[in-house]
Amino acid sequence: MIDLFSDTTTRPTQEMRDAIASAEVGDEQRGEDPNVLALIAETCEVLGKEAGLFLPSGTMCNLIAVKNHTQPGDTVFVGHNCHILRCETGAAAAVSGVVLDVVPSVDGRFSGQALQQTLFEANPYTPVPSLVCVEQTHNFAGGAIWPVEELRRIREISLANGLKVHMDGARLFNAVVASGISAEDYARLCDSVWVDFTKGLGAPLGAVLCGSKDFIERARRYKHMFGGALRQAGMMAAGCRYALKHHVQRLGEDHLRAQRLAGCLRSLPGFEVKQVDTNLIFFKPGNIPAAEFQARLKEQGVLVSAVGEWVRAVTHLDVDDKDIEKTIRVLEGFFSTLTAQ
Ligand SMILES: Cc1ncc(COP(=O)(O)O)c(C=O)c1O
Repeated sequence: MIDLFSDTTTRPTQEMRDAIASAEVGDEQRGEDPNVLALIAETCEVLGKEAGLFLPSGTMCNLIAVKNHTQPGDTVFVGHNCHILRCETGAAAAVSGVVLDVVPSVDGRFSGQALQQTLFEANPYTPVPSLVCVEQTHNFAGGAIWPVEELRRIREISLANGLKVHMDGARLFNAVVASGISAEDYARLCDSVWVDFTKGLGAPLGAVLCGSKDFIERARRYKHMFGGALRQAGMMAAGCRYALKHHVQRLGEDHLRAQRLAGCLRSLPGFEVKQVDTNLIFFKPGNIPAAEFQARLKEQGVLVSAVGEWVRAVTHLDVDDKDIEKTIRVLEGFFSTLTAQ
């Protein structure tokens, strides 16, 4: 099987497994795990943030950040189809008791102007607007990069209106490698930001949430509250440290492979392909329903996912040039069978 289902399906490389197996460990909950502490320090350095917290998942980073920045009843501004809105079991509402207000946009990446127009003046009858969330890159927009100038405008407007900004950086490093803009330059536009080591970076587990010392002190209490405090987590942190050191720059290879695949898809009559900025390719396969197309590709040994009417293919650490060429042959063969029918 060629697995283009998601960049979460990567398996640790032998070198990463070696780093995991030989990791020094301590009690993470008591702040004594050397690899966790080192990973936090290295991530803070890359993001230019004061403090950080190792968490089991990106979903928990979002959960804790929203809880931390808000009070029940507050409004959180989000883009449509963002992970917090669509893929976290409504946790922001269930756990933090916030109202999610969707800022209009074409694909989930809203502009500063759209945010300005959506903001409302708080009075005794309204919810309190307190937080803006952005997702870099935006998954369901097709791994699209949120332009840094727009993020800057969003930051300015947020500051002027007393709002905090949180960045879901599940694929922030894809944006960094593709745009040439540093992680620190993106992160300085946010009060809190996290990066995931389990997506394109290929680690089996782990994310680091960063922000100010005060923010992270409170976040540590929520981590414990939600059952996220860990013990000998250094083994997993060692995998993340390996990924941070060795797997960031290579994301560029995934982006090139995504472009190659997108080029083939664009050449197939009737196919619509979203702009490809990074490693996610979203396409509509003519008039074939996405779920049917997904099933037919699976029969041919290629795994993709169906997201509504779109098919999503993702390039990552475990997909090489040969896999892409084979996928292209499957697509072209599939298409010629269709046209012959
Ligand atoms: C944009 C985005 N945010 C958050 C997450 C959640 O990350 P995790 O799987 O580490 O919980 C994902 C996972 O796919 C994602 O794509």
